[in-house]
Amino acid sequence: MLTVAVLISGTGSNLRALLEAASEPGFPARVIAVGADRQADGFVHAEHYGIPTFMVPFEEFETREDWGRELLAHLDVWAPDLVILSGLMRLLPAAVVEAWSPRMLNTHPAYLPEFPGAHGVRDALAAGVSETGASVIVVDNGVDTGPILAQERVPVLPDDTEHTLHERIKPVERRLLIDAVRRVASGELDLTQTA
Ligand code: GAR
Repeated sequence: MLTVAVLISGTGSNLRALLEAASEPGFPARVIAVGADRQADGFVHAEHYGIPTFMVPFEEFETREDWGRELLAHLDVWAPDLVILSGLMRLLPAAVVEAWSPRMLNTHPAYLPEFPGAHGVRDALAAGVSETGASVIVVDNGVDTGPILAQERVPVLPDDTEHTLHERIKPVERRLLIDAVRRVASGELDLTQTA
């Protein structure tokens, strides 16, 4: 059974979907811990499924590197097979990426390499494109530049707002993420071959 730790910052709706999938009999992975860089609303989903949580508040550290060291210490305690960034809205320091990549995945609400960064949905709308998408990638030292494991197009509708577009993208992200975790867990996808 593949063990997974999930890191979030926000509502954790993608986390909730993964927890739901992982609670199905026969799913080859289970979530063993959920961490966040703040008091994230999404902790409620971990609590619902009885999954332990931990918080490493970014503001309490002088440098990103100090924060990263504490994050690494927590991940070491849980020692998961895989770490998933599911809406973690922080750039990770290089030491964290070096310790975990390629066993660290990220979901992103755009069709990478289009619209990387913290505002993938807003940037797609501002660019006036007719379609954007969702991606699941391996985390590397760049901003959303790692190897792409899965991605799918999502149309932009004429009256879309950032919210409506993001809500249309998220179900696609969830499906791609759950499938990527299943593929890693079953051995179908070998992350060491993705770099
Ligand atoms: C998701 O769309 C995720 O891809 C995005 O934040 C959202 C979190 O939603 N992450 C990024 O934009 C990272 N650059 P959720 O908290 O409801 O799962």
